[in-house]
Amino acid sequence: MTTKRRFTLTQYLIQERRRFPDASGDFNALMLDVALATKAIARSVSFGELGGMLGNPFSEVAEVEDVSTTVNVQGEEQKKLDVISNEYFMRVTEWGGHLAGMASEEMDDPYQIPESYQRGKYLLVFDPLDGSSNIDVNVTVGSIFSILRAPQDVIDSGRDVVEADFLQPGREQVAAGYVLYGPTTMLVLTVGNGVDGFTLDPNLGQFMLTHPDLKVPENTQEFAINASNARFWEQPIKRYVDECLAGKTGPREKDFNMRWIASMVAEAHRILMRGGVFMYPRDTKDPSKPGRLRLLYEANPVGYIIEQAGGRASTGREPMLDVQPEKLHQRIGLVFGSKNEVERIERYHREPQEQRDINPLFAERSLFRD
Ligand code: AHG
Ligand code: MN
Ligand code: MN
Repeated sequence: MTTKRRFTLTQYLIQERRRFPDASGDFNALMLDVALATKAIARSVSFGELGGMLGNPFSEVAEVEDVSTTVNVQGEEQKKLDVISNEYFMRVTEWGGHLAGMASEEMDDPYQIPESYQRGKYLLVFDPLDGSSNIDVNVTVGSIFSILRAPQDVIDSGRDVVEADFLQPGREQVAAGYVLYGPTTMLVLTVGNGVDGFTLDPNLGQFMLTHPDLKVPENTQEFAINASNARFWEQPIKRYVDECLAGKTGPREKDFNMRWIASMVAEAHRILMRGGVFMYPRDTKDPSKPGRLRLLYEANPVGYIIEQAGGRASTGREPMLDVQPEKLHQRIGLVFGSKNEVERIERYHREPQEQRDINPLFAERSLFRD
């Protein structure tokens, strides 16, 4: 009988580290802490209405169980599990001596590593629970994280971190990943050497390498966008979606399928598995919000993963990973997925208005407009 050799996340990290003989091991230790935090979140998510906090070994976390509904810095309602997931990330990663600071969707300001712990050389930025509006309806949610190197003066001085320390373009990410709490719990990770997927073995409590070297197919006939925003879209997005909807009889000469889960992390996973394109573009809905998703803990980590898997991530106008962040909680238009489709959308953004006007589809009313 032959048994297929499966790597645990720990073994995988040890193997990756061999590429960097001088590495201290801090990164691996941090990654394992992040993985532990997500395992705790997976457990809370899976217990659902039953509570999930029973037998909780993290006593500090149990205290937030009674949190009532609050509003975060983005003006969005925080679910109990948003707050609990945020606590797990903080409590499990703050003590190890690997972090200089962290930032999260659920915290207005950067979080300082308490004086009683050592401070390290990495910054952790995360969306503890993405798609949390889906929690109440038992639909897949996930956590998204990005690991950055702290500026050298932070490492040297051990000073408190400030917003500016986190404002690094996505290309500078040391690693990025997400954990999906779906029918199975999966960790998808890039350390800048491709993308690998791990499935949580609930009996062993270990992430096992099940999906090595993930690649996004270059072509697709599937797109994802919240069509209720159609009247606020800019012209290039209207054109792209109209052409998809026109199907076989339109300029694309093929039929497209559409999906919208409202958990970006779940859409990213579908796209990694079978291709597709996701759009939450810049629109005119609310001039104070140039897009819905956040640059530092949604667009950049997902952008890095998608690029490392051979796909493309963009604002529509420039590669996402080249954007210089200006604010910790900055929102941005996001388009990612199969390379050829994202490039087409970018081309539509570049084409001058006149050229679009001679496109017969736009000579008449858009399919999504009144
Ligand atoms: P979060 O739950 O972290 O606030 O993020 C939700 C995001 C994203 O996951 C999803 O794609 C999008 O919001 C859904 O937006 P709509 O409600 O506009 O569809
Ligand atoms: Mn989110
Ligand atoms: Mn969230």
